[in-house]
Amino acid sequence: MKYIIANLKMNPDSVKKAEKYFKFLDKRIRTKNKVIVCVPFVFLNFKVKKFNLGAQDCFWEDKGPYTGEISPLMLKDLGVKYVIIGHSERRALGEAEEIIERKLRAALKVGLTPILCIGEKKGESAKEIIDKQLKPLKGLIIAYEPVWAISTSGGGFCSPEKAKEIMEYIRTKTDNLVIYGGSVDSSDIHSYLKVGFDGALVGGASLDPKEFIKIVENA
Ligand code: PGA
Repeated sequence: MKYIIANLKMNPDSVKKAEKYFKFLDKRIRTKNKVIVCVPFVFLNFKVKKFNLGAQDCFWEDKGPYTGEISPLMLKDLGVKYVIIGHSERRALGEAEEIIERKLRAALKVGLTPILCIGEKKGESAKEIIDKQLKPLKGLIIAYEPVWAISTSGGGFCSPEKAKEIMEYIRTKTDNLVIYGGSVDSSDIHSYLKVGFDGALVGGASLDPKEFIKIVENA
């Protein structure tokens, strides 16, 4: 079973649009693979049938005086099972390794499955960054996302062969699932899965529900 995970980022911009998107998916998804759609917190309360809703971040404490934060316990209570942690867009806003590790541990503690995003920026050594960003924790999904290949931050092409090389390096360091992210769409999802990734994390291409269904079908 592969993991096909959408990251809608800060989209869509209304409840009405989110509802339409989820209904479309519920009507069209037919797969043995696992489909997870990571959405803004405000859309996590929808009831969906054919896929899971996931969060895009969480805090590291269960409760307390942390204005504006959402705790792993609150996500758990809502029925959420998956949460992205350490996405490059959050790292770019200043989220440090220590914070990411605290969030991972807090999410694991309540039984959530964190999707930990790791990957090098243009000009950095992939292996060095992986050594720094990978955490010695069990029960994670590791998303290898070369930042330079993410559609909105460079959009370079990381070929499946090149991604495979890094995937193999990651697998020497962890038994967790390893998925790929970076401008994946319906035309190339299969080639990333074929080289051995356990799934994909899809940003831009998941915003169009028809394209996302094609991605699920072609996986
Ligand atoms: P992308 O985004 O598919 O648009 O490159 C992936 C991500 O940021 O997780």
